Amino acid sequence: MSDLKTGQTEQAAADTPAPKKLFIKTYGCQMNVYDSERMAEALGGQGYVATEDMGDADMILLNTCHIRERAAEKVYHDLGRLRPLKDANPDLKIGVAGCVAQAEGQEIIRRQPMVDLVVGPQSYHRLPELEAKAGKGGKAIDTDFPQEDKFEHLAARPKARRAPAAFLTVQEGCDKFCAFCVVPYTRGAEVSRPVERVLSEARDLVERGVREITLLGQNVNAYHGLDANGRTRSLADLIWALNEVDGLERIRFTTSHPNDMTDDLIEAHGSCAKLMPYLHLPVQSGSDHILKRMNRSHTAESYLRVIERIRAARPDILLSGDFIVGFPEESEADFQATLDLIREVRFGQAYSFKYSTRPGTPAAERPLVDDAVAAERLARLQGLLTEQQRAIQDEMIGREVSVMFERKGRHEGQMVGKSEYLHAVHVGDNPAGVGEIRRVRITDSSSNSLRGILA
Ligand code: 5AD
Ligand code: SF4
Repeated sequence: MSDLKTGQTEQAAADTPAPKKLFIKTYGCQMNVYDSERMAEALGGQGYVATEDMGDADMILLNTCHIRERAAEKVYHDLGRLRPLKDANPDLKIGVAGCVAQAEGQEIIRRQPMVDLVVGPQSYHRLPELEAKAGKGGKAIDTDFPQEDKFEHLAARPKARRAPAAFLTVQEGCDKFCAFCVVPYTRGAEVSRPVERVLSEARDLVERGVREITLLGQNVNAYHGLDANGRTRSLADLIWALNEVDGLERIRFTTSHPNDMTDDLIEAHGSCAKLMPYLHLPVQSGSDHILKRMNRSHTAESYLRVIERIRAARPDILLSGDFIVGFPEESEADFQATLDLIREVRFGQAYSFKYSTRPGTPAAERPLVDDAVAAERLARLQGLLTEQQRAIQDEMIGREVSVMFERKGRHEGQMVGKSEYLHAVHVGDNPAGVGEIRRVRITDSSSNSLRGILA
């Protein structure tokens, strides 16, 4: 979860009344981070500027995540904490956006009547109208999957200078229907943005100082956007087109499905200079029995073969994964198969979760693993993943990496670098300007970052 600082201050034109202040809190994945930026921009046209002070806001938007129960409940908890602000300022508008909005709609206002606005991830281009309705004292709800493409209806992106790394959503939705997952229901069917739209947004970002773009999609490697000639293009085609954008230095993408790691994409990892050697490829489990029950439509073996091919193309690639433990009916033997797969792959980064029942998904009907057993398995799994992560980090000592420098959080002057493998790298005091990419020799490794000197 991250509080978003969008800094879209230039949108307040000189002849408009005092700007209204917008505070957005972003939960969940990077796609929400991107959506929050676009929502702030959409409301910029209504005279809103971003604030980092919730107490000062005229509108508070919670851009929510529904992926696990705890994430969804946190939203209600946080809404409860907004009560005193609303009591002190009845004109304050409170909105809920994102996947909880999509999944629960009207129910949110039933549970929290002080909420003025509910907007789903596919309809936030309608925020200006919704805000106007809420401004007149009405309740504004929109959780449609509209026919029109929201990106075509969002205002052009502002020209303000940006941080050197940016997200760019190129694909949304999912047709895979893993048995545990709400995404196909909250984000809808797979849709890809046209190639030209992505390229022009990328060029625009580069003009504003961006040097690294992470292409986003719930199933980004299933991207199949149309080009200017009406031909369907793959993610690899899109990456090759972005490789030609002058000033763009680094390309990443996330999140991928093993079954969509096509030959052209694997090949791009071997030969596309701007494509970074890092791949997030969730596997969820190493047991074929559980993978089948998860409706993952791949096996442990087929996942390992994909990894083998990717490593043949790009031997130094750093692999990252997602894991779920305690999926219904997972036995100790199933769990051991997951540990075996992890040992075989060696992950440099990983995200692991205890299974969380999501109402409406097929797995919700199945018998649960005892919670204490699942918690204990999660601890063992995380122990192994942390060990691997640390070992891979330690192996970087003595190596030269390429590091892009960014400002660290809100602290003016403090800088942190990111290697091509996505490791955080600290290099003395102000070693380079924001957005500069320098060669660095790694000298030290600590729990979450590396340290080095300019090479
Ligand atoms: N319970 C636990 N983890 C889940 N994920 C998705 N749905 C659930 C669930 N019901 C995890 C998966 C996915 C990541 C984004 O979140 O590992 O890859
Ligand atoms: Fe969810 Fe599976 Fe689709 Fe990923 S591939 S978003 S886990 S349904």
